[in-house]
Amino acid sequence: MGWSVDDRSWERLRNAAVRVAQSAYAPYSGLRVGAAALVVDRPDAEGRTTGDEPWMVVGCNVENASYGLALCAECGLVSALHAQGGGRLVAFACVDADGRPLAPCGRCRQLLYEHGGPDLLVATADGVRPLAELLPGAFGPLDLPVPPRRAGLAAVAAGDPPVPPVPPGSPPTGATPSDGSGAS
Ligand code: THU
Repeated sequence: MGWSVDDRSWERLRNAAVRVAQSAYAPYSGLRVGAAALVVDRPDAEGRTTGDEPWMVVGCNVENASYGLALCAECGLVSALHAQGGGRLVAFACVDADGRPLAPCGRCRQLLYEHGGPDLLVATADGVRPLAELLPGAFGPLDLPVPPRRAGLAAVAAGDPPVPPVPPGSPPTGATPSDGSGAS
């Protein structure tokens, strides 16, 4: 379901993103990035949504002497999302320390898609756009042959069966035959 986000909520998101950008660890690029998102649908132990009021998660970038290991602000945000019980991202803003909007990198668009889907509203330099426009034709959880499983305690509580072992060389369950070209 699409979510409507008023101007005040966008302003709060941007302010939170600017604030958390101050905590960034970016000694290599010098670019401090802050990200903030509104979250809904926190699941309870059985995986049902609790109907809590929307809440906010934030993240900042954390770089590394091994440059390629830098964690984008979105990585921190998604980790915070799960640390706080999980849920669905409905509105997202990413900025530098001066509040200028930053486009999420390609990898982070995929991260955001996993937790917000195509309707996630993203504040860009050109205004608010749904993630579907920033990551058209996205691959996501529903493209996997096995639907995403409830994780951790929720799976145990719900009595989900354990993941069956996959014999080497077997095709993915439910996958459609393909010539390997990727065309359908
Ligand atoms: N960065 C983010 O935090 N998010 C993005 O979506 C783009 C890039 C960070 C990673 C790195 O610490 C710095 O920006 C320069 O690439």
